[in-house]
Amino acid sequence: MDLFQFCRELPKVELHAHLNGSLSKSTMLLLKRLNADSGIKDETNTFMDEFVMGAGDTRSLSDCFQIFSIAHALTTTPQALQMATSLTLREFQDDGCCYIELRSTPRDTPHMNKNQYVDAIVKGIKNPENLIISRLIISINRTMVTAECDAITDLAIEYHKKYPDIVVGIELSGNPIVGEFQNFLPALTRARDAGLKVSLHCGEVRNPKEVLDMINFKPERLGHGVCIHPKFGGTQETWQALCNSLIPVELCLTSNVNTKSVSGYESHHFKELYEAGIPVIINTDDKGVFATSLSQEYMLCAETFHLEKEQIARLALSACQYIFDTECRDTVKTKVLEFMNKHYICSY
Ligand code: IMP
Ligand code: ZN
Repeated sequence: MDLFQFCRELPKVELHAHLNGSLSKSTMLLLKRLNADSGIKDETNTFMDEFVMGAGDTRSLSDCFQIFSIAHALTTTPQALQMATSLTLREFQDDGCCYIELRSTPRDTPHMNKNQYVDAIVKGIKNPENLIISRLIISINRTMVTAECDAITDLAIEYHKKYPDIVVGIELSGNPIVGEFQNFLPALTRARDAGLKVSLHCGEVRNPKEVLDMINFKPERLGHGVCIHPKFGGTQETWQALCNSLIPVELCLTSNVNTKSVSGYESHHFKELYEAGIPVIINTDDKGVFATSLSQEYMLCAETFHLEKEQIARLALSACQYIFDTECRDTVKTKVLEFMNKHYICSY
């Protein structure tokens, strides 16, 4: 079996995927049709081509945050959001993903409030046709003021109580040059005390103090972790803190390359983290915006860092350790182990 096929068939776990950044072109076209049929106007025609931020794109990380408004214009009704969720989950499933934690930022639109927003995603997740096990992480955006952040946290706690088997976590994302982590600490602490697991986008830009504060908070997972190693804008202290904490890092190779957060695949910090024994998880971030898939990310990682199939399978296996729904860990792990046994890949 060639590497591409192998990475596709390998049962994989996606732990860092933003819903509105994950919409494929075909999903966006279906959403446009649904909106047109429901009499919902959108202005995305002119901008659809700008949604994908491919290799060699002149735009960088800060430009990327305007791109999401293109997807947001298509997901303004509960029907559209539910459909976007279902179609996106189906695409991950077709790509060999067996467990996903989708994340999204609840927002009010002219056609729904934040509660209806979360309800719509939950309905999409509960679609009985899905084979993929799907969970939801509620996102807080760094641009939010305290009152907004508190409202999202209340919502996350409310829905965690209502659907403990679906709403499993809370996370902090958005433009990393906006906002201060310390301002989000009270809300994140409250969410954690209510039983939600926490993931933090960390070190997307150089900010050693914030990286240290985030690591000290001891979230269950960190996202990206670009500027933690001294080679990439971190310091000895940030690197040592990560090494001591052994907090798993959700890596998104193509996202970092295409936003120019790293200079190329070869110089991606996967290498430093992997060699230091820090748990790493391969993810897509925004598969629509970055025109990628989870199997492609595994393949790029294997090719760039010359990993054997066994090492790749072990990455998928170890990712199971870090899923927020602890009840599911063994089920998902078994799927990966069965694949490894079937393909005579040592599983112990
Ligand atoms: P949504 O939360 O489903 O609307 O997905 C899009 C949102 O995810 C964006 O508006 C950002 O707040 C967040 N996001 C997506 N990619 C990134 C990233 O690379 N860094 C930080 N935030 C991101
Ligand atoms: Zn992200």
